[in-house]
Amino acid sequence: MPAGDIDFTVQTLGKRTVTSPLAPLLEARRTSAHTVEEGDRILFDDTLSSFERREEGHLPSLEAAGPRQKIFFDPSKTRVGIVTCGGLCPGINNVIRALVSELTTHYGVRRIHGFRSGYQGFIPEYGHDVVDLTLESVDGIAAQGGTILGSSRGQQDIGQVVDCLERMGISTLFVIGGDGSMRGAQAIAAEVGRRDRPIGVVGVPKTIDNDIPFLDQSFGFQTAFSEATRSIRSAKVEARSAPGGVSVVKLMGRHSGFIACYAALAQNDADFVLIPEVPFVLDGPGGFLECLRRRVDTQGHALVVAAEGAGQELFTEADAEGGLVDASGNKRLQDVGRLLRQKITEDFAAHGRELNLRYIDPSYVIRSVPANPYDSVYCTRLAHAAVHAAMAGRTNMVVGRWRRRFVHIPIELAVGTRNRVDPNGDLWWSVLEATGQPVSFGEESESIEVPAFGGQ
Ligand code: F6P
Repeated sequence: MPAGDIDFTVQTLGKRTVTSPLAPLLEARRTSAHTVEEGDRILFDDTLSSFERREEGHLPSLEAAGPRQKIFFDPSKTRVGIVTCGGLCPGINNVIRALVSELTTHYGVRRIHGFRSGYQGFIPEYGHDVVDLTLESVDGIAAQGGTILGSSRGQQDIGQVVDCLERMGISTLFVIGGDGSMRGAQAIAAEVGRRDRPIGVVGVPKTIDNDIPFLDQSFGFQTAFSEATRSIRSAKVEARSAPGGVSVVKLMGRHSGFIACYAALAQNDADFVLIPEVPFVLDGPGGFLECLRRRVDTQGHALVVAAEGAGQELFTEADAEGGLVDASGNKRLQDVGRLLRQKITEDFAAHGRELNLRYIDPSYVIRSVPANPYDSVYCTRLAHAAVHAAMAGRTNMVVGRWRRRFVHIPIELAVGTRNRVDPNGDLWWSVLEATGQPVSFGEESESIEVPAFGGQ
C-alpha cells in the first residue's frame, strides 16, 4: 500500500483535561533539533523523490511520542497493568523496569500490577497470581534475561481478559509482545471500545527478528545478533581447523533474515548467508552445494549462516511435523539446518570429498541474554514513550522509533505487514559483498564472487 494511503491516526480515549505532573519540567525545557513538539508530526518519507511523488500538501506523517502538558488520566487514581507475551527477547525486563519507574517517579502512579504468563494471567482458570510492581521490586531486573513476569504464546478469551481489567479497575494496560500479542492487544482495545470503557491499551513491540514494520529497529535485535556473532566466530575457528571444514550456523529469523544478515556482517566470517527472503537452489550447476564445494576448494573451508526460515521452499507440506502453526498462529518451520547437514554430507560423499561438518544452533541462547547497553537505552526510552502515550489517553497503539524519532503507531499498522530484508536493498547487497556469494544460486546464477581470500 502506498504510504499516502496509510492512516496513521492514533486512537484516543477522550479529552485531556488533567495537568501533567511533568508540566513544570516541560515548560523549563528548551527546544532543540531533537525535541519534537506535540503537534510536530514525523514525516514518513525521507527521500526527495518520495516527497516529489506526493500530491501537494499531502505528506504522510506519524504522531510524535513524548510527554504532553495535559493528560487524560489522573495519576493518583490510575491503576496500571503490565503483561509480557510471546517468545523471549533481550530487554523485556528493561522495559518493565522503565515503565514502573516512569509511572511511579514522574507521574506518581501508585498501583502497578504485573500479570503473569502472558494473556493467561487474566484468565481465572489458570489461577496465576498478580504481582505488585514497585521501584523496589523492579530494582536490578534489567541485569537478567527473560521476563520477571513470565510469558506464554497464544490468545485467550478476549471477553474474559477485559472482564479481568474491569474487575481490577485497570485504566491502562501495557502489552510487551510480538505481532501475535499485538493482535491480542488490538482485540482487547476493540472489546474495551465496545463496552465504552476508558481503558487504554498501549504496546511495546518486541521481537528479536526485527520484523515489525514502521520501526527503525525492534528492541533486543541488536543484542541478539551480537550474541549470534559468538557462534559465528566459533564456527569459523572449527571450519578452518579441519580438512574439508564446513560449519553451518542456524540462527533465529522466521520470516525475516535480519539476524543472519547483521550477525554475518558484524563478524564478517561467513561465506554464505541464507535467508527466507531469498530462495535458493541446492543441486545442479551453480546450485548452493556446488558453490560451497568451490569455496572449500579455494579457501580450504567454508562457513554458512542460515536463518531458520531460509529454504522453506525446498520442503513439501508432507514434511511438516507437529501441525502447521504454533500457538501464536505462526507457521511451523521445517528444519533447514537438518536439511543442509544432510545435503552437504551426501554431496561431499558423492564427490569423494573429505568433509568435517560442524553444526551450531544457538537459537534460544541469543534471545535469553540480558540486553546490551544500546538495547537497554532503547528499551528505557521506548518505555518512557509508552507511559507518556498512555497517560495522555492514547490507545490501540504501539510505540516505536522511526527515522530516529519516537512515534506512536496504530496497532493495526504494526501487525498489518512484516519488515523483511529487501533482496534488492542495500543491506542484502552488503551481505553479498561481504560473503562473495552469488546473487542467486542455480543455472541462472549471476555471480559477484570476490576473489578467494586465501585459506587460513
Ligand atoms: O520471536 C520470534 C522468535 O524468536 C523466532 O525467531 C523464532 O522462530 C521463535 O521466536 C521461536 O520461539 P518459540 O520456540 O518460543 O516458539
